[in-house]
Amino acid sequence: MILKQIKLERFKAAFRPAPIPLQPFNVLIGRNGSGKSTLLEALQWIDVTIRHDARVACDRYYGIQDLINLRSQAKTPFFRLDLEWLSENQKHLTYGIKVEAQDNLPVIVEEQLVEASSNVTPTNSHFLIKTTKGNGRVLNMSARETGGYELLMQVIGEERLALNVAMSMEHMQLELIEDFWANAVFLRLSPNRLANGSSATRKSFAPLLDEEGQTLPALLHELTKDQRRELAEQLEEIMPGIRGVELSKSNTDRDTKVHYNLLERMPYKGRTGRSQFPIPAWMLSEGTRRITAILALLLHDPLPSLLCIEEIENGLDPWTVRYILRQLQSAADRGVQVIVTTHSPWLLDHVPLESILQVRRIEGETIYERFCERPEIQAFDPNIPAGTRYIHGEER
Ligand SMILES: Nc1ncnc2c1ncn2[C@@H]1O[C@H](COP(=O)(O)OP(=O)(O)O)[C@@H](O)[C@H]1O
Ligand SMILES: [Mg+2]
Repeated sequence: MILKQIKLERFKAAFRPAPIPLQPFNVLIGRNGSGKSTLLEALQWIDVTIRHDARVACDRYYGIQDLINLRSQAKTPFFRLDLEWLSENQKHLTYGIKVEAQDNLPVIVEEQLVEASSNVTPTNSHFLIKTTKGNGRVLNMSARETGGYELLMQVIGEERLALNVAMSMEHMQLELIEDFWANAVFLRLSPNRLANGSSATRKSFAPLLDEEGQTLPALLHELTKDQRRELAEQLEEIMPGIRGVELSKSNTDRDTKVHYNLLERMPYKGRTGRSQFPIPAWMLSEGTRRITAILALLLHDPLPSLLCIEEIENGLDPWTVRYILRQLQSAADRGVQVIVTTHSPWLLDHVPLESILQVRRIEGETIYERFCERPEIQAFDPNIPAGTRYIHGEER
């Protein structure tokens, strides 16, 4: 399942931009405050709502009110998100959700999941989920075995998703979409958190890796011995001294924490006569912590379905950036949909031109465009690298 398109309405910086086309590998670039994170946060809002509920998803914004675009003139403020996937068997799935703000609390007022055999038209598509608002919320779902519109009615809370209820019903056969969300990962890696240590196992509703990377030891714990060896070999390609990845436990009064170390070869023998030493996470360079996390995710089975990474180049040297970009592109070929944001024009020179999405604010309006389709960008001599075109192209 790959996300083909996302439509944002009244969500954070995005008032009503045109639908955003996505590919297996995507790079978002644009000025500060243009709306890059807005796109990732829209997806993450759904992710957290599936894992918890809509109130939890709004918590980080101190309630839903701030999330709704300020230009919204609607009597009851709302935002709306529409996603479209294409599955391996060429089926189109679209999911739409409308969320209103009532007393700064989110109320899910509409939800649909529509399946279509090819491009979505009224004749070739049918509803898998369609909610209607009533006293509380009523969930209507078509029963897939009959192919008809046998309606299942269930009342659910206004902060919970009908999608969750439907995914828990075996006959709805929503495993593909369930797996997509279970394995979606959103990263804004924090070097400090990456060195914090975590419990040895991941909670069942938790993502493969949490946003800041605190649960990296648990992720490493989930890798097989061979996968950890492979990780060490990959790290060795960028840092020739690395020989292994190890986990160690520390017991405090309250809980057991797992930490990770990288085994590093030093060109001399230490006091004990050894030449390899475990370097604990908190003594590793910040860049090393970040790449360990990203590479570990790309070795995990199952792989992330969607991997969003904020400011991918942070803390990485140019050679490591290129290495990570190659790894991410190869993962995209293996079915991981990748969306990264960047502020590096140089990075643009090392990704396919078609993968770049430029986010711009024009008179306060956020727009998302394919970089290579902008006339100003096409006007450059084709030999001029993308980063230079980005800098010298008309920006605002
Ligand atoms: N509720 C809102 N209504 C309108 N604009 C908003 C709202 N919330 C945030 N913004 C705008 O979005 C910007 C932040 O967008 P963001 O996607 O985080 O930018 P970046 O491209 O740097 O990641 C803010 O500077 C502000 O202009
Ligand atoms: Mg941002």
